Amino acid sequence: MFIIVYMPLQSDIKNPGKLSNDQNMLQSDANDDDNYESIVNTVHGVINEDEREVTKNSNATPQLYFVNNAKCKIPYINPFEPDVMKNFRPDTFETCTNQSDLVRPIFDMNRKQYVLQIDENVASQILNSHDIEYNCYYQEITRDADHDSYNDLLPQIYFSQGYVVPLHVQALILACHEAANTTNILQRDAYALIQYKPQEQNLEPKKTTPRKPSVLMFGIDSLSRINLRRAMPKVYKFLTRRGWYEMQGYNKVADNTFPNLMAILSGYSPESAKEKVCDTDNRGCFDRVPFIWKYFKSAGYTTAFAEDECDIQTFNYQKPGFVETPTDYYHRSFLKGFMGEMNTWKCANCTLTYCIGRRIQSSYVYDFGRDFAKRYIDERPIWGLFWSSSFSHDDYAMPAKMENYVLQYLLDFQQDGVFEQSIVIFLSDHGSRYGYLADCSSGFLEERLPTMFIYLPPWFRAQYPEYAEALEMNRNRLTSNFDLHNTLKHIAELGQPPNSPPLPRANDCPKCQSLFQPVSRDRECKEAAIPEHYCTCEPYKRIEFAWSDRIALGVIDRINHYLYAKNFSSICANLTLNYIHKTEIKLGLDISFHEEIPKLDVGYYRVKFKVEQNSADFMATVLYNNVTNHVDVDVEKISRTNSYEESATCISHKLAKLYCICKSLLKS
Ligand SMILES: *[C@@H]1O[C@H](CO)[C@@H](O)[C@H](O)[C@H]1NC(C)=O
Ligand SMILES: *[C@@H]1O[C@H](CO)[C@@H](O)[C@H](O)[C@H]1NC(C)=O
Ligand SMILES: *[C@@H]1O[C@H](CO)[C@@H](O)[C@H](O)[C@H]1NC(C)=O
Ligand SMILES: *[C@@H]1O[C@H](CO)[C@@H](O)[C@H](O)[C@H]1NC(C)=O
Ligand SMILES: *[C@@H]1O[C@H](CO)[C@@H](O)[C@H](O)[C@H]1NC(C)=O
Ligand SMILES: *[C@@H]1O[C@H](CO)[C@@H](O)[C@H](O)[C@H]1NC(C)=O
Repeated sequence: MFIIVYMPLQSDIKNPGKLSNDQNMLQSDANDDDNYESIVNTVHGVINEDEREVTKNSNATPQLYFVNNAKCKIPYINPFEPDVMKNFRPDTFETCTNQSDLVRPIFDMNRKQYVLQIDENVASQILNSHDIEYNCYYQEITRDADHDSYNDLLPQIYFSQGYVVPLHVQALILACHEAANTTNILQRDAYALIQYKPQEQNLEPKKTTPRKPSVLMFGIDSLSRINLRRAMPKVYKFLTRRGWYEMQGYNKVADNTFPNLMAILSGYSPESAKEKVCDTDNRGCFDRVPFIWKYFKSAGYTTAFAEDECDIQTFNYQKPGFVETPTDYYHRSFLKGFMGEMNTWKCANCTLTYCIGRRIQSSYVYDFGRDFAKRYIDERPIWGLFWSSSFSHDDYAMPAKMENYVLQYLLDFQQDGVFEQSIVIFLSDHGSRYGYLADCSSGFLEERLPTMFIYLPPWFRAQYPEYAEALEMNRNRLTSNFDLHNTLKHIAELGQPPNSPPLPRANDCPKCQSLFQPVSRDRECKEAAIPEHYCTCEPYKRIEFAWSDRIALGVIDRINHYLYAKNFSSICANLTLNYIHKTEIKLGLDISFHEEIPKLDVGYYRVKFKVEQNSADFMATVLYNNVTNHVDVDVEKISRTNSYEESATCISHKLAKLYCICKSLLKS
């Protein structure tokens, strides 16, 4: 069903004349920003298929650290390590259909409204005739606030060439069929629209206040800065152009997407939000959390939020989502509608949906972002977050398959003038948390060092040279999600009248700051609210030696003694090792990641293992003496990493429950 061609909404790049009424090409005001053609040439020319080879064989002094100072040494990992590369086989890019678009919504700049354009040539091609009559209709998608989803589609509305879409329609599914036979469908398609909303009077920018920079954030889930360099070298190259600053010492503050994005977007961890704002597991809570988009909104910005892969979305995966529409433009309900009403398709080795209807899943999010930017970029300040998980969450090699596609979007944004106007943030939440990369010797760093690039447009660099300098300085200093939060707050304050009260800074990191001010060189993880477990300043490295198995065995022994000492031995099973997930050695500040591990009598280790009894999983950080074989660990600090409730009902001791597998509940 699904075959190959160029992506429909991007065809205007290939045929620049075609969508002229929806294009607002800008004169480049920056001598360092080349024109479109030369950027394409630069990016495609400099980085060719041999890029990985070139980088590998480069004679330049190799980078050894992302951050290197007395208190923090985050090693730089060569992304092209032969060990990883021998397993790295990206698939080739696929599109979802070969057919051209039969109907497209075109934004008419004069009317400030969408018109539906039917391509009659496409119809004749599909029908293989110029004479057969056909009709087209659309059905509006509306939001179901009760479920943060969509309602049943509204009734079919037939339209003809040049139909002006009413302003209330925010998303639609359309179809054309043979006039004499409604079941002979020529094509179905789905679009979300960025309908123009006039600026509210009281938010009209005052000529006297400073210019407010727009902020557009593009996120790719589970993409470490190591894997970005490996899987998307052309995109990486783009992100090293003038005006971009990579936060190479940016360290995640929590495990998965939700808490990491909560920190950036709200300045709260879920735990302290629960204590101080509301429990994010409860419906309606997200509406009350002081998310950054609310501050931008009050500062006169128009806001948008879109995310793909409905089932694992940040605020909806095991969470209740939003009751109120969080931003001026909110995509989820529409994507739910597309997902529910259109055919979907997974590529051969994909676990997540690749195509919805005629297009790649993430393109709905990116096109939403692109249309949002085009609609307003020249007119007013905007803030938007456009997040995709669909091609990166479950497969570290798939970003390579999507590289040109992502690069093309960046070039499209370039062409649309986004980089002349806006601050752009290209980010991720964390790296691979499981699978091949997480299991490599550098897996500890892979998980914890997400992609984080901040772009400042030329006018902003000229107006605030000290901010650009600070950002430059901060590139190789330890930073976290909460600093990014404060940076966003800083930006939201910039265009406010003098004497406006400062916005509250990140609640969960009193020592965090805006990245537009220099971060202290000797910063430690706790000052950036990075928990010890996620801190890469004193990294751990994965080891797999016969001798290292003794550590897990020693830990199990300690647990068994603990149960005995608490007199639970008669009711709780004696634990025995099933297998070791991984053992990591702490290198600390003294041992180089890049060299062989020296002989150590005593060292810190982190071990994750499974016991045979009910497949219980544990993780422990221990001080291990390799000579005496002594394991020093506080048993009550050992984490149980899977659920214990069911197998520990025979005792009520709150802490011992984590380590007790009731003999009566043993599964064979
Ligand atoms: C789709 O396009 C590809 C590449 O141009 C071509 O090989 C293939 O035959 C086309 N498929 C159809 C059904 O037209
Ligand atoms: C109408 O179109 C459908 C789908 O193309 C086809 O299966 C059916 O035979 C057609 N019916 C008539 C009466 O031509
Ligand atoms: C899927 O993965 C397998 C094994 O990695 C590979 O051999 C195959 O070529 C892949 N299929 C596609 C369509 O890329
Ligand atoms: C309990 O398990 C340990 C291994 O941790 C083993 O050495 C010991 O013999 C076991 N004790 C009993 C009573 O089964
Ligand atoms: C130990 O546990 C057994 C059985 O649960 C109980 O009979 C005994 O009194 C306990 N001893 C102490 C010292 O708590
Ligand atoms: C631990 O001891 C073994 C020999 O039992 C040795 O091979 C290994 O290198 C030692 N590990 C360290 C980190 O010193």
